[in-house]
Amino acid sequence: MARIYNFSAGPSTLPLPVLEQVQKDIVDYQGAGLSLIEASHRGPHYSEVHEAAGAAMRKLLGLPENYHVLWLQGGATMQFAMIPMNLLQGGKKADYTLTGSWAKKAVADAKKLGDIALAYDGSQENFTTLPAASDVGARDDAVYLHLTSNETIGGVQWHEWPDVAVPLVCDMSSDFLSRRLPLEKFGIIYAGAQKNLAPAGVTVVIIRDDVLEQCADDLPAYLAYKTHAPKDSLYNTPPVFPIWVARLVLDYLDENGGLDWVAGLAEERSGLLYGMMDRHAGFYSCPVAPHCRSKMNVVWRLPTEDLEKQFIAEAKAQGMDGLKGHRSVGGCRASIYNAMPVEGAKALADFMDEFARKHG
Ligand SMILES: Cc1ncc(COP(=O)(O)O)c(C=O)c1O
Repeated sequence: MARIYNFSAGPSTLPLPVLEQVQKDIVDYQGAGLSLIEASHRGPHYSEVHEAAGAAMRKLLGLPENYHVLWLQGGATMQFAMIPMNLLQGGKKADYTLTGSWAKKAVADAKKLGDIALAYDGSQENFTTLPAASDVGARDDAVYLHLTSNETIGGVQWHEWPDVAVPLVCDMSSDFLSRRLPLEKFGIIYAGAQKNLAPAGVTVVIIRDDVLEQCADDLPAYLAYKTHAPKDSLYNTPPVFPIWVARLVLDYLDENGGLDWVAGLAEERSGLLYGMMDRHAGFYSCPVAPHCRSKMNVVWRLPTEDLEKQFIAEAKAQGMDGLKGHRSVGGCRASIYNAMPVEGAKALADFMDEFARKHG
């Protein structure tokens, strides 16, 4: 078996030892005589996995007792609506930072449900930069300040966090579990799993007690955080397969050195790619301001679209796939999540070097 280097933005590469463990257990789960994905979500096999996944998440993040870990469905996209539904009923206010394509979607849904103001609007700069965290404020009467920690399409990432009096609510879909966080600043952290955690199908929502208490009581059951938290995400059938894989990924990260380990790897991988762009600065160009370049999704342009097409095709032929930029922005993008081996980033950097020498 020859595995390629998969630079897709999500679903994306997962740790090989985890995939091998799943392969080993998929038909007969640890001698149970059935697969875990055939077992009742209230039976002993899945119950152990569910509990272990929550415990592993708490351990890896160092989550204090006053945070709940919820495993939900509907993607991060459903959270764009669930957050304002739960927190902004009755005309309450929230502030949003408009930093790119994903923040735009979060803002659009929130506007339908609450009184939204923009604490930052990056549209004039075409979402290629972020403000200094110290320049971002929130209205005194806002319930929360919403951030998108990493814009998966535009390749901008917050490296510092605003210091505001209200809780941060953060879409961490594409850099969840890639670094340590000042947890006390966050009222809600949410992330679709399909980048750093698991296959698509589960969304993690981490919510603090005091924020949960403010949530609406009168929503349809699935849409209310107050339904899921006291039931430990077992109000209805949870997505058992991605939660099982998430448990394995969390254990794998913990056994290998946890958040400091992955943060170091992210630094190394992204450094290789940005370094190569700098070396061939007239040939490759990164549209993103240096202070907010993403360590998860690295974007760049070549002198012409034809050269970009050629670059992507030749890289693919050499076993490096998923390098096409998002269709809305074009160019190239390498998504280098936790499970991308450093050798993958090295192979790509070497290829960039060779391509620039040939065509620059
Ligand atoms: C930052 C960010 N937010 C939200 C989403 C949407 O997530 P989902 O497809 O899980 O709804 C994505 C998907 O790529 C994303 O990258």
